[in-house]
Amino acid sequence: MELIIQPKPFIRGTIHVPGDKSISHRAVIFGSLAQGITEIQGFLLAEDCTRTIACFREMGIDINIEDKKVIIQGKGLEGLQEPGDVLDAGNSGTTARLLLGILAGNPFYSVITGDSSLRNRPMGRVVEPLARMGARFLGRKGTGLLPLTIMGGKLKAIDYHSPVASAQVKSCVLLAGLYAGGVTSVTEPAMSRDHTERMLQHFEIPFNKQGLRVEIQGEHGFTARSIKVPGDFSSAAFFITAAALMPGSDVTLLNVGVNPSRTGLLEVLAEMGANITLLNERVENMEPAADIRVQGAELKGVTIGGSLIPRLIDEIPVLTVAAVLAQGKTEIRDALELRVKESDRISAMTGELGKMGAVIEALPDGMIIHGPQKLKGSGCMSHGDHRVAMALAVAGLSAQGNTHISDSQCVNISFPGFVDILNLL
Ligand code: S3P
Repeated sequence: MELIIQPKPFIRGTIHVPGDKSISHRAVIFGSLAQGITEIQGFLLAEDCTRTIACFREMGIDINIEDKKVIIQGKGLEGLQEPGDVLDAGNSGTTARLLLGILAGNPFYSVITGDSSLRNRPMGRVVEPLARMGARFLGRKGTGLLPLTIMGGKLKAIDYHSPVASAQVKSCVLLAGLYAGGVTSVTEPAMSRDHTERMLQHFEIPFNKQGLRVEIQGEHGFTARSIKVPGDFSSAAFFITAAALMPGSDVTLLNVGVNPSRTGLLEVLAEMGANITLLNERVENMEPAADIRVQGAELKGVTIGGSLIPRLIDEIPVLTVAAVLAQGKTEIRDALELRVKESDRISAMTGELGKMGAVIEALPDGMIIHGPQKLKGSGCMSHGDHRVAMALAVAGLSAQGNTHISDSQCVNISFPGFVDILNLL
């Protein structure tokens, strides 16, 4: 599918974005491992999260979708069956890595794979701790890549110091920790998103968090809880950024998750001069949510790095667009993880914005951008990466002439309805 973006002078309106992807995955996982019926409202019915549903169905869990609600008949920690077929995580790193933690703790044989992008993303970061806990793996590149074969079973607790600030690694080890005898801990180098910890709290599963260390007591069953999923901040980010950088814009996004481990973009845009207000702040199933009002302004460049990066890692593609259009220099450092996302996002964004006339210096772990630069509409590629496609759409709004984004159906991975909302504004 080719997406054609026509420039707009500004955007205005009130919108809803679909449910949070990270919370939706975790809702299915915890609902499946709980004892009893979990009802999920606001679930993200998009490709990534329906992969997680399909994998649990394959392991014998009844999951029904009725009237946009997801209803799970959880069978408890020991309730999964050996899958009859290969589990397919599609494009979803969260599905693959979190599931690996659960498969490691179950006494059966399983195989998990994904699409061509996911089969090239690093799995050693989760295989290594899980192997130390006692699970056995076979796979490509010395078990570094999918497809992976797992022989799970009785696990032993470990104290794991992760070399990367990754919520997927942290969550994987904590989920395996549910199956281990004793206390399993994970310490990360910087704080990554904490949806798993909040979900543990919601399901009243005992755990402890001190600074960058989380520990969990294993072999502790839990009962079902209903879950309301707020709108996805990372989806909202495309419209937040688009409105922030186009003077005259005024957009309100209703019911968006504003978990502080996700909202680094708001701080950066504020530093760049954006006009953003949070309204109706509230907390639902341990997750903060709010309505976000954004009014357009002239933006200026900014320097970012360090512990802020995990708090806006998924927003860097669209932040790059803001940096190109902002006055002055923007420098993004410490974002090596961008190289191993759904695409190499440093190379994809510098290359595609380059086709639109922007000059961006790619660093091994970031980018340097001197703005403001004029963008011209041209033919671009999504690289099969949903966030690259949507970031280029935001760039197209401020370009001269139409922008054509090929292979853009990947937006459905996280944001079905993106184009309809764009047309509505
Ligand atoms: C996610 C964690 C992040 C993020 C991804 C979703 C999650 O990845 O980029 O889109 O749901 O745990 P890492 O934890 O690998 O940084």
